[in-house]
Amino acid sequence: MPGLQFSTALITGASSGIGEAIARELAKQNVAMVLVARSGGKLESLAAELSAGGLKVIPIAQDLLAGNADEVLWNELEKRNIKIDLLINNAGFGGYGFFHESPIEKQIEMIDLNIKALVKLTYRFLPPMITKNHGAVMNVSSTASFQPVPFMAAYAATKAFVTNFTVALSSEYQDTPIRFIALCPGRTKTNFQVAAGSQKVRIRSRAATPKQVAHVAVKALRRNNHIAIEGFMNYAMIHLQRFFPRWFILKIAYKIFKPKNIHQ
Ligand SMILES: NC(=O)c1ccc[n+]([C@@H]2O[C@H](COP(=O)([O-])OP(=O)(O)OC[C@H]3O[C@@H](n4cnc5c(N)ncnc54)[C@H](OP(=O)(O)O)[C@@H]3O)[C@@H](O)[C@H]2O)c1
Repeated sequence: MPGLQFSTALITGASSGIGEAIARELAKQNVAMVLVARSGGKLESLAAELSAGGLKVIPIAQDLLAGNADEVLWNELEKRNIKIDLLINNAGFGGYGFFHESPIEKQIEMIDLNIKALVKLTYRFLPPMITKNHGAVMNVSSTASFQPVPFMAAYAATKAFVTNFTVALSSEYQDTPIRFIALCPGRTKTNFQVAAGSQKVRIRSRAATPKQVAHVAVKALRRNNHIAIEGFMNYAMIHLQRFFPRWFILKIAYKIFKPKNIHQ
């Protein structure tokens, strides 16, 4: 299979889960990388491992919730003369439970990371891609982006933003070679479930491995899709729901997502 046509990727949230798995897959494709997350130690050991064969992999510890994170990253890369032609906005987290029971500060942080940081990084790194007529932006969304999700209301809404924003950009820039892809994993075995507290979901579907999601990501980078969904069942579910009224989908979503301790 031909290699990917990208020289240097920037991956946010590369210290664990899906971001780390994508970094491992891109290393196999010989794509140099800048790895970003808060856990500097984890990034450094991953970078050391991936660069063992001579590949350039640079870890940068950065909290993307800092208001100027996009500027700090941009300046750091300018200083090192690193040009990004593949931006992977993956950092994100979710929350599970009744909306009023989760601290509002946490929910605002989630909106700021899942949406604001992603939009700001896209805004920073897109112009050079346009100038060079080459590049791609992959935004990690979710199967939760295709319908409202009770008990994950704000999280699913952030991902609806991510999918719609990405697909709209893919249309807006259709006359350029710049690619925009919304990567939509379903349930995946990462720290996400623990961080979101979503192990209490009543009906649990199959969970993919981060590696399976990363394979879908790399496949999507080779093709011309603007939405990449991991797993046949996720794909079928998303496409089938278009044939049913919204109230019906919401009723099913409620049954699936209501916490185990609610009996109705
Ligand atoms: N797992 C699932 O079931 C699932 C399903 C659909 C979509 N997704 C999406 O997939 C993406 C990756 O999640 P994951 O499942 O791989 O979970 P994960 O293992 O918890 O990874 C989240 C990553 O985001 C980074 N991160 C969190 N807060 C950050 C901040 N303030 N600044 C910089 N980096 C930050 C974390 O690193 P540090 O803690 O080191 O900062 C970590 O590398 C998310 O956007 C998530 O919404 C996950």
